[in-house]
Amino acid sequence: MKSLLIFGVLLAVVQLSTQAEPKCWVGPPETISKLQWPDMDDECIMEVKKHIKRELEASVTYLAMAAHFFNSANFRPGVAKFVLKHASEERAHARALMDYILMRGYDISKDEIPTIKPLSTTWDGVFEALNTTLTIEKDVRDYFKKIIFVCEGGSDPEHKSVDYHVSDFLTGTFLDEQHQGVREISGMLTTLGRIIANTGNTAFAEFEFDRTLLEH
Ligand SMILES: *[C@@H]1O[C@H](CO)[C@@H](O)[C@H](O)[C@H]1NC(C)=O
Repeated sequence: MKSLLIFGVLLAVVQLSTQAEPKCWVGPPETISKLQWPDMDDECIMEVKKHIKRELEASVTYLAMAAHFFNSANFRPGVAKFVLKHASEERAHARALMDYILMRGYDISKDEIPTIKPLSTTWDGVFEALNTTLTIEKDVRDYFKKIIFVCEGGSDPEHKSVDYHVSDFLTGTFLDEQHQGVREISGMLTTLGRIIANTGNTAFAEFEFDRTLLEH
């Protein structure tokens, strides 16, 4: 019994002496360095950031186009309404790309928000204007493919930096809309082209075509 007691006391002494400093942290949580968790490839981030500018450029060009067709001299309110809708869509894309970069743990400095000018500001009629929007939509679509290529490690033969989430985000969120936009505008150009060809009167054709856009 006595030896057991001595053993117990010894054990307690040993335990006490081996215990490290007691930890009691009551301060604010330690700051986690941002660089500890993001995992995007630099080239991929750069491509996504470059695309923010392209989306904004498309948006501002459509906005200028809307102003042009709301103008009394070129009044085509249906066309103006249509391009205005697309202006909002492209701006929303730019915003979503910004949010994506932030979500992945990277910053966008205010200096990276570029000064934006419309890609063109004169359009000789509705056909030319819609043809411009078709070109822009196609370019944007093709750039999505380029971003996906880069983010899936396209330039890296070992594909070390493959980032399927970016691809998934781009194809799921934007590419569908982009394909539909291209399809819709192509159809519109065909329709307008036919009315012009059949009536031989561009102003009348534009007027008729514009009315169909006002209806929805
Ligand atoms: C439409 O735009 C494309 C690209 O800018 C151009 O090559 C083509 O000639 C234009 N089509 C018409 C019918 O104006």
